Parts: sequence; structure tokens; C-alpha cells
Amino acid sequence: MVSYKEIRASNALLNDATTPRVAVFAGGTSGIGQLTVRALVSTGASVRIHLIGRKSSEERSRIFIQELNAINPKAEIIWVEGEISLLSETKRVCEIIKSKESRIDLLFLTTGYAPFGARNETAEGIEITQSLIYYSRILFIQHLLPLLRLSEAPKIVSVQGGGMERTTVDLEDMDLKKPGNFGLVNTHVQYVAMLSTTMEKLAAENQGVTFIHSCPGWVNTGNVNRGLDASLTIKSWLVWLFLEPLIGLFSFSDEESGQRYLFQSTSAAFGGRGVPWKGKAGVNSQMKTGEDGLFLVTSKCDTTPNAKVMPVLREKAQGKVWEHTQKVLGPYL
Ligand SMILES: NC(=O)c1ccc[n+]([C@@H]2O[C@H](COP(=O)([O-])OP(=O)(O)OC[C@H]3O[C@@H](n4cnc5c(N)ncnc54)[C@H](OP(=O)(O)O)[C@@H]3O)[C@@H](O)[C@H]2O)c1
Repeated sequence: MVSYKEIRASNALLNDATTPRVAVFAGGTSGIGQLTVRALVSTGASVRIHLIGRKSSEERSRIFIQELNAINPKAEIIWVEGEISLLSETKRVCEIIKSKESRIDLLFLTTGYAPFGARNETAEGIEITQSLIYYSRILFIQHLLPLLRLSEAPKIVSVQGGGMERTTVDLEDMDLKKPGNFGLVNTHVQYVAMLSTTMEKLAAENQGVTFIHSCPGWVNTGNVNRGLDASLTIKSWLVWLFLEPLIGLFSFSDEESGQRYLFQSTSAAFGGRGVPWKGKAGVNSQMKTGEDGLFLVTSKCDTTPNAKVMPVLREKAQGKVWEHTQKVLGPYL
């Protein structure tokens, strides 16, 4: 485990030279993304952040941006409105950012939640949480990689379930459309495995860019309630009675979660570029140290290659998942 003390010490070294100068946050309007934006701005360094959010979050994000400007007048926060559960909107938002920036240092992705109820599709016919957790995030990465490659220390951090991959990914029904295939556990297994194996492929093809798929542990953001609706009375009740108190007890504090993600976004522990790190070097998903690639990062900021699963996914799933993903994303690339 990387201790909180070590994390604070590393983050204290951040300055204008070592802080990402241009960052894009998809999911920075709430929860872990928002906590990380606040931690980044609180370094006092010069930073420009593209904060992407839907119309319904605009009002409270204006207040958040005012708070950020007061914390650090050198920080420039640009609000980009977009309904990024839709791939057409993700593409539009990426085009806006590409027209304004000549390079990006950090892409930070946190949209999503666990679906407790029935399948719910976007207007584009994609199950909404799969779009938020997987398709939209990969589309962001593919669109913005050319600008990330121009950074000296480019990083992509995707927060979901890094290290929790399992081999039981369904390659015959990638989008879990067959009757009985959609459910809380299946979606978790499917989306986490698809995210890691696709990020690993993109990482292998983009040496010089550090990719992180990370597990946040428990953070009391209210995320657990997003997938519940009025029809799910018993599930809501169980979440309220058991899960919420557990989350309340065992969560990282907001402050620590934000600092841990600032560390992942800036430390040389993962891939060698960034704030120098004297601790154990991160091992990537191909079991290599001192190289770029995909880092699967646990809630304690350790890396794991998930050595029993990632080689199986690489051999059996990666090609098929990529082919399917490119079919879905093709119209929006
Ligand atoms: N928190 C935890 O303990 C925990 C544990 C394990 C995994 N995770 C996963 O880690 C990721 C980040 O978690 P978090 O706690 O930071 O999540 P969160 O606080 O619920 O924030 C998620 C982000 O997704 C956006 N979002 C949610 N539904 C959306 C929709 N239908 N359309 C567009 N945007 C939508 C939110 O935007 P708005 O601000 O507009 O609502 C917000 O910016 C999530 O995928 C979560 O499932 C979290």
C-alpha cells in the first residue's frame, strides 16, 4: 500500500513544471472526478481544465468553478456542455476540445454507475452504463490520443475496476442483449474486462502514453444510488440498510480519494514520467516495470498485473472486443 503520507509528500512536490498543464475531465462534475479536480487546482499550479458535464449539472458546476477560481486564480476552468452518455455528443465535445488545444497532459474518466434495475438504453441503442463506463471512455481516448501524444508526460486515468478483471467475459453477446444476460454482476465483469483489455491494446500501440485503469475502493459519493429508481423498492431498501452504512464506515474520505487520484495522475510510480518516485516502481499489465503500458491500480495505489486473467483476455478476448468496439464506435470516430 502506498501510504497517505507518501501520497501527500509526492503531491506536495507538484508545481508549475510537474503539474499537468492541460487536463480533460469527463465525470468531473461529481464524485471522484470532482474531488480530483479540486485536489489538482489546490496545488496552486497553472492548469487549464476542460470540465465536461451535462446541462443538468451546469448550475452547480458554475458554483464549483467559482470555488476553484477562488482557491487558485492561476487555474482556468472551461465548462464544456455535453450529454456524453451519447457517442455523438462525446465526439462533438472532443471536436470542441481539439479545436482549442494543441496538446493534452491528462485525460481523466469517471462517468458511470452500477445498474441495479432493468436494461436502459440511450437513444443510440447502447445500454446506458456500458456507454458511460466503456464506449464513451474509449471514444474519448481514441479522439484525444493524438493530442496526448504531444505531451511530455501524458496520462490517461480511467476509474472503475482495474485489477478486478475476470476471464468470464461474454464474447458472443458483448453488449449483454440476450435474455437473462443483463444484470449487476454480469455488467461489472463484462465492462471491467472490456475496459482493461481495450486500454491494454491502446497502451501497447501508444508507447510514451501512460494508461491507468484504477479501482477507487469505496468513496462515499452517492454513486451507489444512481442505478436505483422508484420501481426498485426492495433493492433501494437493501442499499439503504446495508450498503450505504458499510460505504459510510469503510470509505476513503473525500480528501484522501482526491489526493490518491492526484497522485495517480502525476507520479512517476506509474510508467516513470512525472513527480519522481523512490518507492516500488509500478508493474504494468504485461508484468513489466520501468516501461509504459496499462497499469491496473488498486484502491491502495498498488499496481497488479492480474497475472491469471490478463494473459487470457489478451489471447482470447482482446481481438474480438476491439473488432466489436470499432464497429460500434466507427460512426463517431
Ligand atoms: N464511489 C465508489 O465507491 C465507487 C466504487 C467502485 C467503482 N466506482 C465507479 O467509479 C466511477 C466513478 O465513481 P464516482 O463515485 O466518482 O461516481 P459519481 O460521483 O456517481 O460520478 C459519476 C460521473 O458520471 C456522470 N454521470 C452519471 N450518470 C450520467 C448520465 N446518465 N449521463 C451523463 N453523465 C452521467 C456524473 O455526472 P453528473 O454530475 O451530471 O451527475 C458524474 O460526473 C463510476 O463509474 C463508479 O461506478 C465507484
